[in-house]
Amino acid sequence: MKKMYILGNWKSHKTTEEASSWKQQFSTLAPSVPSNVTIILCPAFHHLSLFQGVLYALGAQDLSPFEDGAYTGEVSAAMVGRMVQYALLGHSERRTHFGETDEIVSEKVRRAREAGIRPIVCVSHIDQVKALKALVPDFGEAGMLLYEPVFAIGSGTPDTPQNASRTAQTMSAILSVPILYGGSVTPDNVKAFVGEEYLAGVGVGGASLDPVKFSQLIKAVI
Ligand code: PGA
Repeated sequence: MKKMYILGNWKSHKTTEEASSWKQQFSTLAPSVPSNVTIILCPAFHHLSLFQGVLYALGAQDLSPFEDGAYTGEVSAAMVGRMVQYALLGHSERRTHFGETDEIVSEKVRRAREAGIRPIVCVSHIDQVKALKALVPDFGEAGMLLYEPVFAIGSGTPDTPQNASRTAQTMSAILSVPILYGGSVTPDNVKAFVGEEYLAGVGVGGASLDPVKFSQLIKAVI
């Protein structure tokens, strides 16, 4: 059976109380998932300990491009290496608002690999995939891609599943890795995306913030 990933990216949302309440509600709603489906929750760093030992996998939303050291405010891969299995790197919001270049993203990928964390690199267009391959030639060994066209993120206007799959097909000819689609994925449209040949799952922003919607979305896939 096709291996599938459902990744929830909370972005810069939720107080400690809100995260606890989400966890409590989600635990009563979440279905048990078949072994071919992996749920990856990416809350902010300070919520990671709340989710240790829970049934789904955890991801960091970002990592420092540096090793441990005098880099105030940064969270290194080694610091969270025992807490997360995945790291979301190079999200378009980080590329846009924090000036992350392909070179910086590639450093983060290297740090993730050193810490045994599987990197999921967000890409909006083919050039970013080509740059990643050039900068991290062995990315294909453990990496994954999350294709997110900028127009679709948080807009309520997703790409079409067919177009997303075509783009993923082109990307997979450059880097043969699992490719997820992200951008306005909801419980209503998720099935169409995961049904596409070249898509190995979805990245979910807004709809992952609500435990009811996120559990509905998972139920729609399994
Ligand atoms: P969205 O965000 O689901 O709110 O569109 C997707 C993302 O940026 O991962």
